[in-house]
Amino acid sequence: MEKTIALITGANKGIGLEIGRQLGRQGITVLLGARSLAKAEAAASQLQAEHIQAYPIELDVTDSGHIRSAAAKIEADYGKLDILVNNAGTYLDHEGNNTDVMRRTFEVNLFGAHALTAAVLHLLSASPAGRIVNQSSILGSVATILEDEMYASAAVPAYTASKAALNAWTAQLSIQLKGTNVKVNACHPGWVKTDMGGDNAVMEIDEGAATAVSLATLPDDGPTGGFFHKSANLPW
Ligand SMILES: NC(=O)c1ccc[n+]([C@@H]2O[C@H](COP(=O)([O-])OP(=O)(O)OC[C@H]3O[C@@H](n4cnc5c(N)ncnc54)[C@H](OP(=O)(O)O)[C@@H]3O)[C@@H](O)[C@H]2O)c1
Repeated sequence: MEKTIALITGANKGIGLEIGRQLGRQGITVLLGARSLAKAEAAASQLQAEHIQAYPIELDVTDSGHIRSAAAKIEADYGKLDILVNNAGTYLDHEGNNTDVMRRTFEVNLFGAHALTAAVLHLLSASPAGRIVNQSSILGSVATILEDEMYASAAVPAYTASKAALNAWTAQLSIQLKGTNVKVNACHPGWVKTDMGGDNAVMEIDEGAATAVSLATLPDDGPTGGFFHKSANLPW
């Protein structure tokens, strides 16, 4: 049987590594992207020790050379890509509320995901069932931050704007891909105990990976162009 191939960014730790683990346990070959080859190799070794087909890829999503090399390697090795999880994310609002922070946040959370997706879209199109998952956040829901004081009080403008932009682009890409074999959805993992989520977060990492994993493995009659947490549709 033909192998199913998944590429996950920011997969050296946190939710990304766990997405790799959960997809790998389903027999999917997982390519673990990390900013340095050493980090990617350490993550791949960890999952290989759990009998998962995991391979490292050097992939800083802000580095166009890394993106080109990753796309070329996947094309040479497999000729297609079935699943892309744009999970890499950054949160820099603690550094200040200014344009530099906004720009650097967008570089990873929007432009990185966009550039990588553009570079591998032909490989996803070569899959019988291409799936793109954009790891967003409830803080990217404009409707929610306007209506819910708890989220409004987070006051993280760069992070919020970058995830809202990621959501808008997800919707736009779903329109572009209508009628093809490729589905694209955004998701909110929940508030998860990772380096980014912190120790006070309410969800364990395995539960936090579950929404992305389910969107990465959607059946042919599954949704596209949505924003989800678990099975719930979130407002844009
Ligand atoms: N945890 C939560 O409560 C929560 C809630 C909503 C959404 N999210 C989203 O979930 C995703 C995963 O976050 P997490 O909680 O697992 O945080 P995390 O443990 O801090 O992991 C973030 C990952 O992104 C990687 N990354 C950052 N910049 C990158 C770049 N330029 N290129 C490639 N990788 C890069 C990090 O690599 P390094 O190790 O090299 O820094 C790390 O692997 C993010 O998109 C985040 O916004 C998390």
